[in-house]
Amino acid sequence: MTPLDILIMAAGKGTRMKSRLPKVLQRLAGRPLLHHVLDQAAHLQARSAIVITGHGAIEVEAACAGAAGTDGNFDLKFVRQEPQLGTGHAVLQTVPHLRDDGTAVVLSGDVPLTQADTLRALVAASGGEQLALLTVTLPDPTGYGRILRNAGGAVQGIVEHKDANDAQRAITEIYSGIMAVPARLLRGWLARLTNDNAQGEYYLTDIVAMAVADGVPVVAHHITDALQVAGVNSPLQLAELERAHQLRTARALMEQGVRLADPARFDLRDDTRTGVRGELLCGQDVEIDVNCVFTGQVELGEGVSIGAHCCIANARIAAGAVIHPYTHIDGEKAGATVGEGALIGPFARLRPGAQLGREVHIGNFVEVKNSTMADGAKANHLAYLGDATVGERVNYGAGSITANYDGANKHRTVIEADVHVGSNCVLVAPVTIGAGGTVGGGSTITKSTAPGALSVARGKQVSIANWSRPKK
Ligand code: UD1
Ligand code: MG
Repeated sequence: MTPLDILIMAAGKGTRMKSRLPKVLQRLAGRPLLHHVLDQAAHLQARSAIVITGHGAIEVEAACAGAAGTDGNFDLKFVRQEPQLGTGHAVLQTVPHLRDDGTAVVLSGDVPLTQADTLRALVAASGGEQLALLTVTLPDPTGYGRILRNAGGAVQGIVEHKDANDAQRAITEIYSGIMAVPARLLRGWLARLTNDNAQGEYYLTDIVAMAVADGVPVVAHHITDALQVAGVNSPLQLAELERAHQLRTARALMEQGVRLADPARFDLRDDTRTGVRGELLCGQDVEIDVNCVFTGQVELGEGVSIGAHCCIANARIAAGAVIHPYTHIDGEKAGATVGEGALIGPFARLRPGAQLGREVHIGNFVEVKNSTMADGAKANHLAYLGDATVGERVNYGAGSITANYDGANKHRTVIEADVHVGSNCVLVAPVTIGAGGTVGGGSTITKSTAPGALSVARGKQVSIANWSRPKK
C-alpha cells in the first residue's frame, strides 16, 4: 500500500458564518469541523496530515493539539498560506513536506461528513499511479467546478463555474473538492499552475487538464450521497449537516436495537469542556423518548428508559432504571451513576459525583451533588443533597437540604441507614444522623445524633386559645 499523506485546506475565512471563530473550528456534534476531517485521516491510517492554515491560523493550530493523538498516530503538520490565492496556491504550500512515495489526499477542513469507505475507494481508484477525483451529481451545480468529459466519457478537465460557458454550466457532475493524487506528480503540476482565470486564483482543479496532457489517467469516483461532500459555509448549512450527522448516529443506534421515539430528534455530542468524545453505549431494550441530548461518555444498561427532553452527560445508568422527562444529569469529570431499577425525575438534577444505588428514587426538583445514596434511599421532592453519604432505605423529606458550605469550606453530611428526615430540615455539615434515627420536620440539625434517636430542633409551638386578631 502507498503511504497516505492528507492535505487539509483550512485557510479560508468563512465570511458567511459571520462569526469570530475560524470556520473550521465551528462545531458539529460538539466537535470542531476540522477534527471531523482529522478523524478521516485517522480512519485512513494516514502517514501524515498537513493542515493548511491562514485565517485564524494560531487558533486553528492550537485547536488541533491533541486531536491527532486521540484516534490516529499520524504525523500532524501545519503550513501557513498567507495571503490566500486559491486552492492550488493552498496545496502548493505543502510541497516542502510532500514525500514522493506517497499518495496525497486533498480534503477541506469544512467538509465534515465524508465517510472512510468513500475515501478508501477514492485512494484505491488512484492506485498510487492515477489522479482520482471524487465527484457527485447535483440538481443545482451552481458555483461548483464542472467535470468535463470527452465523447468517450474520459475526464478531460474541470472548469470552474465562473469560467464556464453555458454548455459547461449545464453539466451537473461536479468536483467535490476531494482528490487523491500521487505526490510526485502533484508536485510537478502545482509548479505549473497560473492564475489566468476569471477569479485570478491558482486553481488546484487545473491539474486535471495537466494530467490528461501528461498522459496520466484521470478517474472520477462518482458517489450519489451529496452529504458526504457538503461543506459548511453558513449557520444554516452547519445546522443541516448537524441534523444529517445526528440522524446517521441515531440510525446506527437503532440498528443495534435501541428504540428511539424519533431518530430526527436525537443528539449525541462531544463534551466541549473536556473534549471527551460523544459515545452512547446501550444495552438491550433501551428506550429513548424525543429531544434527549447525550454528551460525552454515557452508558445505558439493559431496559433503561429515558423520558423526553432529558440532558445526560458523562453518566452510567444501570439496567432497568427509569429517567423521567426533563431530567438533567451531568457527571462532568467525576461522573454520575444511577443504580439498577432507580427512578429519577421528572425535573431532577444529578451533578458530578452523584452515585445512586439500586432502587433509589429521586423526584422532582431534587438536586444531588458529590453524594452517594445507598440502595433504596429516597428523596422525592424539592431537596438538596450535597457532599452527603446517605445510607440504605433513608427517606429524605420534601424541602430538606444539606448545608454543606460554610462560606469557605465544604463539609460532609452522613445520614446512616434507615434514617427518616422530615420535611424542610436543614442538616448543617459536618454532621452525622445515626442509623434508624428520625429528624422532625422543620429541624435545623447542627449536632450529630445518636442511632435510633428522634431529633427535633425548632421553635416550640405555642397556641393561644381564642386569639382575636387586631381590628382596624
Ligand atoms: C472548489 C473547487 C471546485 C469544487 C468546490 C467544491 C477549485 C479551484 N475549485 O471551489 O471545483 O467544486 O471546491 O466545494 O479548487 N481554501 C484555502 N486557501 C485558498 C482558497 C481556499 O485554504 O486560497 C480552502 C477553503 O477554506 C475551503 C477549500 O479550500 O476549505 C475550498 O475553497 P472554496 O473557496 O470553498 O472552493 P472553491 O474555490 O469555491
Ligand atoms: Mg473560492
